[in-house]
Amino acid sequence: MQGRNTTKGVDMKQTVYLSRVVPGLSDADRDAILRCSVRNNPQLGITGVLIQSDTHYLQLLEGPEAHIEALLDFIATDPRHTDMAVIGETTTAYRAFPNWAMGSVDVGADAQVMSLARAAADAGRRDPAIADAVVTLGKGMNVQRRAG
Ligand SMILES: Cc1cc2nc3c(=O)[nH]c(=O)nc-3n(C[C@H](O)[C@H](O)[C@H](O)COP(=O)(O)O)c2cc1C
Repeated sequence: MQGRNTTKGVDMKQTVYLSRVVPGLSDADRDAILRCSVRNNPQLGITGVLIQSDTHYLQLLEGPEAHIEALLDFIATDPRHTDMAVIGETTTAYRAFPNWAMGSVDVGADAQVMSLARAAADAGRRDPAIADAVVTLGKGMNVQRRAG
C-alpha cells in the first residue's frame, strides 16, 4: 500500500507526544482506542506505537505529514486524555514500525521512558532521545501486544 514503508522517497513525519490518561479510564476504553487506530491508520498511511502506563500515554506516529497533522488535531480533542504535549518531531525516510498500524506496549508509571517524556513535557521542550527510547522499547516488546 502506498505510504506504508518509504512513500516513494518522500520524507515522512514522525511525531511523539505525551498525554495524561483521564482518571478511571477502563480497559475497554483503552482497547477501543487501539481498535480505532488499527481501523483508521492504514488508510492514512500512518504507523506507530502507543506506550501506556496507568497515568500517561506516549504515542509515536509516523506517516505523511499532512495525515499526521490532521490525525493529531483529531486526537487532541479526544476526551479520553488531556494535557497533550508534543515532545518530539522529525522527518524520516524510514518507518520505525512499518508493520504496526498501532502497536501497544504497557509500562509501569516509573518506566524510564515515561520519566524522560514527563521531564520534556514539563520543560516544554523537545528531546530527540525520547523517540529513540520509544523505538527501542517498542521493538523490544513486539511480542507483547501487537496490532495491525
Ligand atoms: C491516546 C490516544 C491515541 C489515539 N490514537 C489514534 C490513532 O493512532 N489513530 C486513530 O485513528 N485514532 C486514534 N485515537 C482516537 C481518536 O482520537 C478518535 O477517537 C478516532 O480517530 C475516531 O475514529 P472513528 O471516527 O473511526 O471512531 C487515539 C485516541 C487517544 C486518546
